[in-house]
Amino acid sequence: MNNSQSHSDNAAPKPSFLVAYASQSGTAAALAQRSAALLHGQLDYQILPLNKVDNEVLSYTRQALFVLSTYGEGEPPDNGMVFAGRYLKGQVTIDLSHLQFSVLALGDKIYQQFCAFGHSVHQGLSRLGAIPLGEPLEACASAGYDSEGLLQQWRQGLKLPQTETQSPVQAKPPELILAKSPDFSEWRLVSRRHLNPGSPGAPVFLLSLGSVDGSIANWQAGDLIEVAFDVYPDNLLNTQVKRKYSIASLPQDGVVELIVRRHINADGSLGIGSGWLTAKAPLDSNISLRICQNPQFHAVEAQSPMILIGSGTGLAGLRAHIKQLEQQGATANWLLFGERSPEHDGFCADEITAWQHADVLSRVDLAFSRDPHNPAYVQDLVLKYADELRLWLQNGAAVYVCGNHLGMAQGVDHALQQIIPAQNYQQLLSLGLYRRDVY
Ligand SMILES: Cc1cc2nc3c(=O)[nH]c(=O)nc-3n(C[C@H](O)[C@H](O)[C@H](O)COP(=O)(O)OP(=O)(O)OC[C@H]3O[C@@H](n4cnc5c(N)ncnc54)[C@H](O)[C@@H]3O)c2cc1C
Ligand SMILES: Cc1cc2nc3c(=O)[nH]c(=O)nc-3n(C[C@H](O)[C@H](O)[C@H](O)COP(=O)(O)O)c2cc1C
Repeated sequence: MNNSQSHSDNAAPKPSFLVAYASQSGTAAALAQRSAALLHGQLDYQILPLNKVDNEVLSYTRQALFVLSTYGEGEPPDNGMVFAGRYLKGQVTIDLSHLQFSVLALGDKIYQQFCAFGHSVHQGLSRLGAIPLGEPLEACASAGYDSEGLLQQWRQGLKLPQTETQSPVQAKPPELILAKSPDFSEWRLVSRRHLNPGSPGAPVFLLSLGSVDGSIANWQAGDLIEVAFDVYPDNLLNTQVKRKYSIASLPQDGVVELIVRRHINADGSLGIGSGWLTAKAPLDSNISLRICQNPQFHAVEAQSPMILIGSGTGLAGLRAHIKQLEQQGATANWLLFGERSPEHDGFCADEITAWQHADVLSRVDLAFSRDPHNPAYVQDLVLKYADELRLWLQNGAAVYVCGNHLGMAQGVDHALQQIIPAQNYQQLLSLGLYRRDVY
């Protein structure tokens, strides 16, 4: 799927309104689509992932909305990193005094640097002379986003240029109009299999969920689900919390499969979402969920070899990709996977062996941190096989990373930056050949 949608072609005037998003797991991207839909018929606009916003785009844009999530510890999502390197380090001298802009900043107050990336972009653009149409509008994920309220606030602060409200450009990508968040629907917990009995880590389960009304939902490898849970704090009014999980299956499997680790709090109580899914929810009970597109982690359009890297529950997102490769008849892909114990944490080992036999995976390397003979993390494999990885990258392979951000994805990222030159790393990012579903 193409991430950028423009209402212009080469002959048409350049769109004066820009909606740019930086999003890791699709929320900001979906909100950008919905805000752009509000402009439909009033303005000529384009929607771009932030990394695609360059000097040329900024030169003809007159008004812009930036919908920006924050990741890591106050950092940009992957599809904002190139932009951040280009415009927020104080090294460029471009004059943006012709540009008015607003920022919708998404984040979560459980992190110290709440909405930090939204604020960095606000400050960086202001430093370059752009004119903010107000302070960044902040929204907190765990408080539950009020998307409609946010969009209304943004619209109120917006000064639509009168002269352009009757734009002659009418090409209408229908998904913009349909881009409302899909509603939650009821699914049934069909099965729950313990994948790592005896593991030194918390238990991990493979769950299958079937649609209650039998309708066939559509998604592709890389997509996520969001599950809504009702909680009753201290017998007060119930509130709903939502948790995201990477989908480990394809629609052709007829079920949404998940790989979920039970989160155990310090006092022994269970995490709200994972506790319900892995322990408390009876088999056959209903689960309310919706499918969330996550283009950031979809397969690259041109079929290039995949280097799939992950640990723990990160196998979920990688498994969906391998199933998709198998279906497409693709061969010669490389899985690097890490867990704790070689005896107890060989998740989905039979499947992995079958994919090797079918040559969907031409290479599999496993790392176990509690292996008494050869303890290693998956990032150690990246360093160990640096020469081969460089060769695969030279041959056009794309890198997919899924799983924990702290510990795994950060470690893999550092290792990758160690084994390839900085300009090749930047190129991987800007060409979209480095894709992550990390949490
Ligand atoms: C894009 C994405 C994909 C994911 N994919 C998977 C997957 O495939 N498999 C998987 O197992 N998990 C996945 N996760 C993680 C998953 O969404 C949950 O975060 C995880 O299951 C723990 O949630 P919980 O409700 O069980 O725990 P929680 O009840 O949220 O507790 C987790 C920890 O957070 C703390 N905490 C919770 N709320 C607050 C608060 N308001 N303030 C301060 N601290 C707080 C708790 O004290 C506890 O230490 C994914 C997350 C994302 C964002
Ligand atoms: C690994 C991880 C790190 C995060 N770090 C921050 C942070 O430093 N500051 C913040 O405000 N929000 C942080 N968040 C919260 C996200 O910004 C928030 O969930 C947002 O809705 C994600 O939007 P997206 O789906 O567009 O990526 C983090 C979320 C994850 C999963």
